[in-house]
Amino acid sequence: MKRLEDIKRIAIIGAGVMGSGIAQLAAQAGYETVLYDLTRELAANGLKLIAQNLDGAIERKRMTPEGKQEILSRLKATNEFSELVADVVIEAIVERLETKSELFSKLALLIDDDEAILCSNTSSIPITKLAHGIPHPERIVGMHFFNPAHLMKLVEVVSGTATSPANAQLVYDLSEKLGKEPVMTKDAPGFIVNRIGKMYHTESLKALEEKAAAAETVDALLESCGFKMGPFKLIDLIGLDTNLSVTKYLYEQFHFEPRFAPSHIQQQLVDSGFLGKKSGRGFYQY
Ligand SMILES: NC(=O)c1ccc[n+]([C@@H]2O[C@H](COP(=O)([O-])OP(=O)(O)OC[C@H]3O[C@@H](n4cnc5c(N)ncnc54)[C@H](O)[C@@H]3O)[C@@H](O)[C@H]2O)c1
Repeated sequence: MKRLEDIKRIAIIGAGVMGSGIAQLAAQAGYETVLYDLTRELAANGLKLIAQNLDGAIERKRMTPEGKQEILSRLKATNEFSELVADVVIEAIVERLETKSELFSKLALLIDDDEAILCSNTSSIPITKLAHGIPHPERIVGMHFFNPAHLMKLVEVVSGTATSPANAQLVYDLSEKLGKEPVMTKDAPGFIVNRIGKMYHTESLKALEEKAAAAETVDALLESCGFKMGPFKLIDLIGLDTNLSVTKYLYEQFHFEPRFAPSHIQQQLVDSGFLGKKSGRGFYQY
């Protein structure tokens, strides 16, 4: 069985909003880190996002230029699947069951070390489903970071029905080593935070559809009530496409309860390619 000190190399799949932040955390914690995406450009873009975060830390006097270089020296961006052989793999690819399942099947073939841990950063797809049909499903663990991953403290460590308690514990310990405050949770719909937080989004979207108030007004009001970020700014930060997928998966898992129903306005924005901050336009312009 792997111990925390046996973990030397971490591979992250998906160099988008979340994968880049998770790769930064792994490199910051001293791990040899590989960041993979489908093309060289996408992978390199993940490194660019990390360099921007580190520059921000230098500006705020939280890091030195030498510290930045040291972190970057532990990071490699790639589109070579064979580079993903590692002690721990964390996938942060598109929120789509079929795509993630296909990835886990390919990973299980590539990594024949049955003690390697294969994690998913999914927000809403059951870990039990992702582990189904994968050799050694006890090594599949949910490791759900929050956005921005390099700053937010919480990590939900999710056990599917096949996840071994020892592997869940190892992911918990690794999360702490990455500077996080993990919690253990079962494979319930939306785990803990998204199940409850979803209402913040769906109710705000309903208010918008009913023309009760503009997005800016809803955001301003909720921020004045003490929420750190209004719901529309938050959906823009998450990504409208990712947030919509999560809503659809939760709607299905809650047996199509109307309170979880996806919003037509959000669907239209996604169909138009307005995906939020990452695409330059969502509810707001960037
Ligand atoms: N955005 C958030 O706030 C947030 C928070 C917590 C968890 N998550 C979860 O993290 C995951 C990624 O979300 P994101 O917001 O970073 O998405 P994103 O769209 O920013 O990035 C996804 C990346 O995955 C890549 N990708 C797609 N298919 C791939 C494949 N088959 N192999 C390798 N790379 C592939 C894409 O090219 C893209 O770069 C999702 O499961 C999402 O639910 C997102």
